[in-house]
Amino acid sequence: MSAVDVWMFPVLPGAAEDPALREVLGPDDAERVDRLGLSSDRDRAVCARVAARTVLGRRLAVPADAVPLQLGDGGPTVDDRDTSVSWSHSGEWIALAIGHRRPVGIDIEEVPARLDLGALAELGVGSLEEFVGLEAASKATECVYGGAWPPDVAVRRLSAPDRYVAAVAAPGDDWTVEVHMRSPLENLGVPSAKPLSEKAPSVTLPLTPFPGREYFHVWT
Ligand SMILES: CC(C)(COP(=O)(O)OP(=O)(O)OC[C@H]1O[C@@H](n2cnc3c(N)ncnc32)[C@H](O)[C@@H]1OP(=O)(O)O)[C@@H](O)C(=O)NCCC(=O)NCCS
Repeated sequence: MSAVDVWMFPVLPGAAEDPALREVLGPDDAERVDRLGLSSDRDRAVCARVAARTVLGRRLAVPADAVPLQLGDGGPTVDDRDTSVSWSHSGEWIALAIGHRRPVGIDIEEVPARLDLGALAELGVGSLEEFVGLEAASKATECVYGGAWPPDVAVRRLSAPDRYVAAVAAPGDDWTVEVHMRSPLENLGVPSAKPLSEKAPSVTLPLTPFPGREYFHVWT
């Protein structure tokens, strides 16, 4: 039984312009971020990449800016066969997952003011929770199933911040989730970094069962 490590943490407004964060980015990261038009998108992209580099750097015992993170079209990968990474951003929050010896996928979505159930039905899902689970499962398989449920991938729902829905997925079912409460962006010299526990305590979300699928609440 191995663990998938998960972090959920708030986006730092102004992150894309913060020199302390930008210096952690690799050249490929920086180029991708700078192509984004909206400053809020750039902030989300910088926070996700810096957080991923920070936790991977600790795990691989290398400086964050030297983490061998590849950003191909199929999602981010680490040049270390034992380690996988996935992240997702929506609204003011980022979810990050690090896997050990298996691919991972994570998704977080802000609950919209009006949920377009017709659009969800076109994707073959009946709820936002199920959509988020499908996105996480798709990312765990580099989207090769084209929006269909990939086989042999377990999805675990996470206790997300208020007004957000999140899930993590990985092949097999012999894995657990370890949720880390402190933002990886803490202690990077950025004053607006706040621990998750101060920003949003765990909440109970209405459970929508996935037919035929295990779906767990992870209490933090
Ligand atoms: C790829 C996709 C799943 C990303 O989801 P999203 O809700 O738009 O965005 P998220 O914030 O959750 O995730 C974005 C991250 O996913 C990762 N990602 C992108 N393509 C990926 C892929 N093919 N496989 C795994 N991860 C991928 C990247 O790290 C990206 O981060 P970045 O934008 O900072 O570079 C989405 O764009 C998509 O294709 N959705 C269509 C619905 C669908 O058919 N889903 C199933 C196929 S994936």
